Amino acid sequence: MVRDAGSVGTYVVAVAAAALASLARAAQPGAASPIAAPMRPLQWGKLNFLHTTDTHGWHGGHLQESQYSADWGDYVSFADHLRRTADERGVDLLLVDTGDRVEGNGLYDASSPKGQYYYDIYREQSVDIICTGNHELYHASTADEEHRQTVPNFKNNYVASNLDYIDPRTDQRTPMAQRYRKFQTKNQKLDIVAFGFLFDFTGNANNTVVQPVRETIKEQWFQDAIREKADAFVVIGHVGVQMQEFKDIFAAIRKQNWFTPILFFGGHVHVRDATAYDSRSFAIASGRYFETIGWMSIDGNLKKTGTPPRTIDPPLSFNRRYIDNNLLGLYHHTGLNETTFPTDHGRNVSAAISRARKELNLDYSFGCAPRDYWMTRTPYPHRNSIYSWLEKEVLPDIAVLPSRKDVPRLVIMNTGAIRFDIFKGAFTRDTTYIISPFLSVLNYIPDVPYSVASKVLGLLNNAGQILEAAGAVDARYMAIPEQLAIHESIIYNDKSSSSSAAFDDSGNAQQKPLGDSGSDSDGDGSDSQPSLVGGYTTKDDIGDDGDDAVHSNINFYVVPNCIQTEIGIPSDDDGKQAKPETVDLVFFDFIQPWVLMALKFSGGDCYSAQDVLPYVDGTFTELMAAWIKKNWPVKCGD
Ligand SMILES: *[C@@H]1O[C@H](CO)[C@@H](O)[C@H](O)[C@H]1NC(C)=O
Ligand SMILES: *[C@@H]1O[C@H](CO)[C@@H](O)[C@H](O)[C@H]1NC(C)=O
Ligand SMILES: *[C@@H]1O[C@H](CO)[C@@H](O)[C@H](O)[C@H]1NC(C)=O
Repeated sequence: MVRDAGSVGTYVVAVAAAALASLARAAQPGAASPIAAPMRPLQWGKLNFLHTTDTHGWHGGHLQESQYSADWGDYVSFADHLRRTADERGVDLLLVDTGDRVEGNGLYDASSPKGQYYYDIYREQSVDIICTGNHELYHASTADEEHRQTVPNFKNNYVASNLDYIDPRTDQRTPMAQRYRKFQTKNQKLDIVAFGFLFDFTGNANNTVVQPVRETIKEQWFQDAIREKADAFVVIGHVGVQMQEFKDIFAAIRKQNWFTPILFFGGHVHVRDATAYDSRSFAIASGRYFETIGWMSIDGNLKKTGTPPRTIDPPLSFNRRYIDNNLLGLYHHTGLNETTFPTDHGRNVSAAISRARKELNLDYSFGCAPRDYWMTRTPYPHRNSIYSWLEKEVLPDIAVLPSRKDVPRLVIMNTGAIRFDIFKGAFTRDTTYIISPFLSVLNYIPDVPYSVASKVLGLLNNAGQILEAAGAVDARYMAIPEQLAIHESIIYNDKSSSSSAAFDDSGNAQQKPLGDSGSDSDGDGSDSQPSLVGGYTTKDDIGDDGDDAVHSNINFYVVPNCIQTEIGIPSDDDGKQAKPETVDLVFFDFIQPWVLMALKFSGGDCYSAQDVLPYVDGTFTELMAAWIKKNWPVKCGD
C-alpha cells in the first residue's frame, strides 16, 4: 500500500485574512469569502496531474460555500502557476478532465440554447486529456454541441476510445474523437499513451454509440496501442475507479506491459476516491461540481532507457491529493496571495463568467430559504431533509390536476431528481438548475386500485433486484449518483457491513454522531489553528490523508430510491376510516419504466405505457420555483 509521505500531522495553516480578501480576489462577485483551514501540501513527483470531473456547469464556483468558491478563471491562474513550477523543477504537469461538464448549474442550463456561454468559458483552460461523460449524451442536441464545439476546441487532446458520433446530415458514424492519444511531455519527453473511456452507458440519444468496454479492448487499434512504446499509460474515463470497466482495461494493458506504470483518472460517481490495482498502477476520482481539483503524482525513474529493456524496474511512488476549490488553498499551494495569484488570463475568464451570470440573470431570487435543507446530511424523514420538505410541503401543493383535485392520489418522486442541498438564504434562478436541472414532468395513471398502487413505493425501494431481473434498468439509478459509489464499495470491496449505516463523503461507513463539528482531534489543539469547517473527510484505499484541507466531518445518510406523498388518503392513525378503492398514481416521468414494472408485481399487470397520461403542466423545477415564490419570504431577514 502506498502512503503519502510526511503529511500526517504536519499541517500548515493557510493564513490570509478572509476579511481583506474581498478586495482583490477573483471568484464571482457575491461569492462567500474563503475561510482558512489546516493544509496538507501537494506532493510533487516527476509526472504530476490536475484533474477535474463531473463539473456539471459549476464553472462559476460555489457562491454559497466558502470552501469551494473559486471559479474557472482561478483554476486557469492556478494551473498556470503550477505549470511554471513544473518547468522550474524540470518535471511535467498534465491536466485531465473526465466529462459530465454540462447539466446541473444555471451557467450551462439557463441559456437557450443551453451552454451558450459555457463552451467558450470552459475552453479557456488548457486541458491535455479530455473525454466524454454520460451527461454530454442524454440529449442529441448536447452531443451535437459537444462534437461541434468541445471536440474541436481540444482537437489534439480529446480522446474517445469507445464512443462514436452519428452526423445528422450524412448519417455517417465516426469516432467522436481520436481513439487514443500518443504524445511526449514537455520537460522530460516522457512517452505517454492515453485513452479516454465512458462506462457501459446505455441511456444515450441515438446520435451516439457507446461500445461496451470489454468489446473495445479486443479491437485491433486498442491491441496495437497498448503495444506502443510508453513510459506511462494514462487511462482517463467517465468511470468510477471501483467499477469493472477500469479493472478490465487495467488487466488488458498490464498483460502486455508488466512494469509500465498505468494511471487512471475516473469520475461519474461524484466521490473522492483512490485505489491501486497493483503496485505500479494508481487511480483517482476527483469528486463533483467543481468542489475538488484532484492531484496525482508519480515519482521514480520513469524514462525507459537502454536496451535490452529492464526486466525489473525500480520502485515508483504514487500520491494523491483532493484539493478543495478554495481560493485560500490555491494561494497556499502556489505560495502566492490575493494580489499575486490572479493572472490576466484568469481574471479575464472570471470576468466572462460574471458577464454570463449577469446576462442569464442567475442571481434573480424567487424567495429566501428559511433554513438549510439537506439531501444526505440528515436522515429521511427529518425536519431538515429536503425530501421531507418536498413530501410534506411542496408536492401536496404542486401535484394538483384541477379536474381531478378531489381524487385521492399517491405521488412518487425519485430522490435522484434532486441534485443538491438548499442553503439558508436566497433561492435564485441559479439554484433552480442546481437543485433540479432535469426537465422532469409529472405523469399519472388514473384510477389504480389502492391495493395495487400502495405497493409500488415499497417495490421501488426494496425490490431492485426483482425489478432488474424482470428487465428494468438498475433500480439504483432512481437515487442520487453518490449512492452508486456506496453500493460499489459494498459490492466490490466489502468496506461496510451494513447498507443502512451512515456514510461519510467517500462512501465509507462511519460512526460519528450527527452535528459533531468544530472540534477535531486531528489538529494540535493550539489556539493558532483555525476552527475546522465542515467538509470532505475522505477515507480511500490509500488512507485518510488525501484531502488538502483538514475538515470536520459531514455525515452521509443513505436515502431511499423514491419518496411518496399521500393526498386525500386517511392515514393509518385515523382509526377506522376506510382507504379509497382507487387512487391516481402520480409519478415523475423518469421513473416510469420502474413504476410499470412494479405495478406488474403488485397485481396491476394490465398497465402499460399507453395508460400513462401527463398530469400537471410545467416541469417539476418550474413548479417548485413557483411554490417558493408563493411560500417563502421575498427578502432574507439577516
Ligand atoms: C433518432 O431518433 C429520431 C427521433 O426519435 C429520428 O428522427 C432519427 O431518424 C433517429 N436517428 C437515427 C440516426 O437513428
Ligand atoms: C503579496 O505578496 C507580495 C509579494 O510577496 C507582497 O509584496 C504583497 O504585500 C502581498 N500582498 C498581500 C495583500 O499580502
Ligand atoms: C484579457 O482581456 C483583455 C481585454 O479583453 C485582452 O486585451 C487581453 O489580451 C486578455 N488577456 C489574456 C491573457 O487573455
